[in-house]
Amino acid sequence: MRIVLLGAPGSGKGTQAAILTEQLEVPHISTGMLLRAAVEAGTELGKQAKAVMDRGELVSDDIMLGLIEERLSAPDADGGFILDGYPRNLSQAAALDTLLERLDKPLDIAIQIDVNAELVIGRIAKRAREEGRSDDSEETVRRRMQVYEERTAPVVGHYADKGLLTRVLGEGSIEEVNQRIMAVLRAEAAT
Ligand code: AP5
Repeated sequence: MRIVLLGAPGSGKGTQAAILTEQLEVPHISTGMLLRAAVEAGTELGKQAKAVMDRGELVSDDIMLGLIEERLSAPDADGGFILDGYPRNLSQAAALDTLLERLDKPLDIAIQIDVNAELVIGRIAKRAREEGRSDDSEETVRRRMQVYEERTAPVVGHYADKGLLTRVLGEGSIEEVNQRIMAVLRAEAAT
């Protein structure tokens, strides 16, 4: 299955994708993880991206398209994928449509994970204490949430217009959310 996971920072995209990748046996492709790996490796791209990420802004569309094109073209994505963190604005959504058409890998479903803002702020604050991710500071999280509302939230409408969108409640335990997503995917597979 070819799946896009959408949702605010802290909504649980990465957590759910890490479980789904085992259940569905398709790769979890997270642009945040690809960028953090580039930062860790100290590549030129990583150096450029780190400053942008630490401000809570979006890395440029050109860089992101190059990264995602390379990753989606890899043979392990032939049988499906779970995209987490891409697309992040309407221009990335249009670029992804074009890319997937060219690769002949059309999306099956876009799942929006809905979680209320207070809960996601609480989850990220907990992660900041436990893991110290450099973009989890209070100020940067506030900016990431703003960027989400302004730039990423409209992507939900893009997929609704294409008839690909399903919304899932992201509150409750990790397992409960996974069960909701799996129920949606089973229903989709049966159509
Ligand atoms: P990215 O890594 O994509 O960050 P994000 O979207 O802000 O997402 P998070 O990782 O914070 O949240 P999540 O929804 O994955 O939740 P998670 O499962 O981790 O991007 C980081 C940065 O990279 C961006 O700000 C941008 O600069 C850049 N970037 C990335 N993609 C880009 C793109 N396409 N274009 C341009 N720039 C891009 O969960 C959060 C916490 O909650 C975890 O601690 C988890 O354990 C916990 N949790 C999850 N589910 C539950 C639950 N049900 N109950 C209790 N706790 C839970």
